[in-house]
Amino acid sequence: EKEKTLAMIKPDGLLGNYTDKIKKVILESGFSILREMKVQLDEANVTLLYAEHSSRSFFHSLIKYMTSGPVFLMVLEKENAISDWRAMIGPTDARKAKITHPKSIRAMCGLDSERNCVHGSDSPQSAVREISFFFGEMPLTGQFLFP
Ligand code: CMP
Repeated sequence: EKEKTLAMIKPDGLLGNYTDKIKKVILESGFSILREMKVQLDEANVTLLYAEHSSRSFFHSLIKYMTSGPVFLMVLEKENAISDWRAMIGPTDARKAKITHPKSIRAMCGLDSERNCVHGSDSPQSAVREISFFFGEMPLTGQFLFP
């Protein structure tokens, strides 16, 4: 059974020009890229997207980072897309990834636990929520009203 997940190249990934390299790895790993879009997120977008982290100490910094430049969003599809993409990106902390998962995408282009270059949905529920957040029928601005 095919599955969809949301992949995002974060501002540091775009700034470092990693988009083409990451897309190449994605396609070579058997994913289909169903949708893609480059977008500049604003504070309202990030606050909704990362609502579950709103009480964390790093939340304010996360908003600053995630709005510091455009992000590149993709809907990926293949069997086990969610867990396979999470495995490919590696651990949250890119410094650790460089040691424990040297072939992971975060090891390749991430810097630390915040600037970790890429995102992947962590569950089927998150995948549905995140894909409709960005690619749903509601335009992105309209989605502020319907978290
Ligand atoms: P991600 O797992 O895609 O989604 C939550 C994000 O919050 C995470 O990537 C990082 O960018 C950020 N984050 C998670 N943990 C920390 C931390 N300890 N310090 C700073 N940022 C973090």
